[in-house]
Amino acid sequence: MLTEEKLTLERANHYIQENKGNVNPLYRPTYHVSAPVGWLNDPNGFVYYQGEYHLFYQFYPYNSQWGPMHWGHAKSKDLIHWEELPVALAPDEWYDKDGCFSGSAIEKDGRLYLMYTGHVVENDVVTQTQCIAVSDDGINFEKLASNPVIGAELLGDEGSIHDFRDPKVFQHEGTYYSVVATKTHDHRGKIVLFSSEDLNEWTFFSVLLEGTKEQGIMWECPDFFTLDGKDVLIMSPIQIKRQGHEYHNISSTMACIGQMDWETGKLTVENFHEMDFGMDYYAPQSLLDDKNRRIVIAWMQMWDRTFPTHDLGHQWAGSMTLPRELRVRNNRLIQRPVSEVYSQLEYEHGIENLEVGSQPVIFHHLIKDNTYMQIVADLSEASQFSIQFAKQAEQYLRLNYETESSTFTFSRKNFGYELKGAEKQPVDTRQFPVELVNQQLILEIFRDTNSIEIFVNGLEVISATFYEIEKGSDLVFHSEGKTMIGSFETAIIK
Ligand code: FRU
Repeated sequence: MLTEEKLTLERANHYIQENKGNVNPLYRPTYHVSAPVGWLNDPNGFVYYQGEYHLFYQFYPYNSQWGPMHWGHAKSKDLIHWEELPVALAPDEWYDKDGCFSGSAIEKDGRLYLMYTGHVVENDVVTQTQCIAVSDDGINFEKLASNPVIGAELLGDEGSIHDFRDPKVFQHEGTYYSVVATKTHDHRGKIVLFSSEDLNEWTFFSVLLEGTKEQGIMWECPDFFTLDGKDVLIMSPIQIKRQGHEYHNISSTMACIGQMDWETGKLTVENFHEMDFGMDYYAPQSLLDDKNRRIVIAWMQMWDRTFPTHDLGHQWAGSMTLPRELRVRNNRLIQRPVSEVYSQLEYEHGIENLEVGSQPVIFHHLIKDNTYMQIVADLSEASQFSIQFAKQAEQYLRLNYETESSTFTFSRKNFGYELKGAEKQPVDTRQFPVELVNQQLILEIFRDTNSIEIFVNGLEVISATFYEIEKGSDLVFHSEGKTMIGSFETAIIK
């Protein structure tokens, strides 16, 4: 499909217009961001700019598998309905010729600046540098003549120029800073900080944080902000070691919560944890909006996984999570769906005081592609409560809570096409502890055509994708002992 012809913006935009009509809609999300055609990975340049939310993303229009990265672009007024915009960046300069890798956005004097990684491969040797593009209208971007603005001279011995990427730019007390991912010479993750007065001339500032051997061979996509009195670094470690119920994916996401010392430029970490317990969550990036909300969005996928849609010739891959509002509680990051999503709900069914025991309670034809569901269940007299979701014959997603171990389980085993990954273990089930609140389990479920996001007791989240072979629409409740479902509501997301 791809010739030696140059990868320009014009070519990408033309290709999209010609080909987006051919994308197979079967598994396409209805309210999660995905590319109009082709491959999407990390969110980039997530920013609130001139009254609208802008979201850029790692994008390869020409195939449903990863290729030389462009930046796709969409904007929204409510974080739910997105308008597709022309491609913002193409790999068309010597310093980004093999890809415009991940990065971020910031407004300065009314103009929108994108800071991204220029990825170059010469004789199998990768060089990564940080570059800037700027726009007056938030749509058309011009790369700076001074690019790359951060390269090997500024990084010096503090990291590897072969793995030096994903700048997240922010302002602190009038100075611009950028956190950038790199690694140590013995292959540990490392986050470095650069500073600038004008976004053009940069200097090395500090090493923000360095990982241990167990914490992965490289940290990708850092983001750094202050929230609820804490300084928070989020990033995506490659091959971080499993620890109990955490970090079971080949690559994971980690939140480090602590205090920043702006004199030394070092973060003292008081607690760290995995951000989402699902099989498909990576590279989260946040913004601060006009309501002072810290909102995060992530790629709802994982590297090295199988894509049934690719083999079936569907011509697209990848979507984002719902945008979620972040808070810090007890030194943990808490994620809630943004409030805007609730005004998109069209109420369908509601039941109060439903008693569930060992006899299954079945609802036929309840689950749709865009079902939202809230369940408040009292488990004080139950040892176990389970849900079979989107059931069809013996195929269903399984949600289960065990009271004795306070463990929640989510499984997509035997549900649609089998999904495989580079992980040693299967990637179909995750388990994690979560405490009941006054003996109650409170679940909020957001289902889209090929994904589910489950918010458990307002504390933990699981994000996962699936590809049904036959659509399932039944829902089954089951309990060991007595579960009292105080309220059970379903809606669709418009
Ligand atoms: C993370 C990542 C980034 C890189 C981009 C390339 O998913 O590997 O580190 O910039 O994807 O598409």
